Amino acid sequence: MALERSDYLSDVWREGIFNDKVVFCTGGNGTICSAQVRAMVHLGANACIVGRNVDKTESMAKSLMTARQGSEVLGIGSVDVRNAESLNQAVERCVKELGGIDFCIVGAAGNFLSPLSQLSANAFKSVIDIDVLGSYNTVKAVLPHLVKSASTSTSGPGGGRLVFVSATIHYTGAPLQTHAVVAKAGVDALSANVAIEYGPRGLTSNVIAPGPIAGTEGMERLGRSEDREANMKRIPAGRWGTVKEVADATVWLFSDAANFVNGSVVVVDGGAWRTNRMA
Ligand code: HXC
Repeated sequence: MALERSDYLSDVWREGIFNDKVVFCTGGNGTICSAQVRAMVHLGANACIVGRNVDKTESMAKSLMTARQGSEVLGIGSVDVRNAESLNQAVERCVKELGGIDFCIVGAAGNFLSPLSQLSANAFKSVIDIDVLGSYNTVKAVLPHLVKSASTSTSGPGGGRLVFVSATIHYTGAPLQTHAVVAKAGVDALSANVAIEYGPRGLTSNVIAPGPIAGTEGMERLGRSEDREANMKRIPAGRWGTVKEVADATVWLFSDAANFVNGSVVVVDGGAWRTNRMA
């Protein structure tokens, strides 16, 4: 089904604001990250998404290209963010074929529900490796290109920006998700450190922390259906969020309107985490 602009982007944004920019995204097959990239492509950017599954990644890239006529979206499969070498190769291919990297969405993550008592060291490590080491590998691979973008951008929004996709579960803790709670705290800390170390070179690094977003894998697989109605009532906004609302926050962080926003966490959850709700 073809998506309309109103499905993934607010009409407050101006077409063409990301012309000549390139966004690199890990986890680009996911519901949230694909909406983020689709919004950027719609507004002028070209994109490269990487994922573990070849077919899914290539087919998502084709779908993302429909967001704007003439856009280029590269889908590179067989990339596991835990493997620095495969990531480096994808980054090099992106730079070669699309001309550079101006923005990066660090989105790849892994999660499942497991009581701590049954969580094996390898299961814990797998999620830490995907979320924390994978984010580190991504940052290391794209940083030289972001630095270059920040120092050479002459038109449109300045380049050299990172957005990490985190969560809110580590603000309060979340039963059955020890691995992800620890991992997301690490992702937030990584972003903050990049912000202070690379801010002087013109980069910004920020986190988007989505709360309960309808239609996402996190909600479908991790939210317990019997808790859903009760949980929704405890969200101050009184509803689940949409991927479009996460995409809008992403566009804002990559736009000139957020030039002085660095080392921040933008929580997109309708106020949910403040009610200490599970979802
Ligand atoms: C307990 C599990 C498990 C489960 C895997 N393991 N699934 N333990 N319950 N459901 C254990 C395995 O038994 C094994 O430990 C270890 O984890 C590694 O398993 P593999 O299958 O070899 O791992 P791998 O292929 O590396 O897969 C990574 C994964 C998997 C994270 C474990 O779930 C995955 O690929 N998921 C798809 C991506 C994903 O989860 N996306 C969700 C994004 S949502 P042993 O000891 O047996 O060797 C999200 C939202 C966060 O991130 C915020 C939520 C609110």
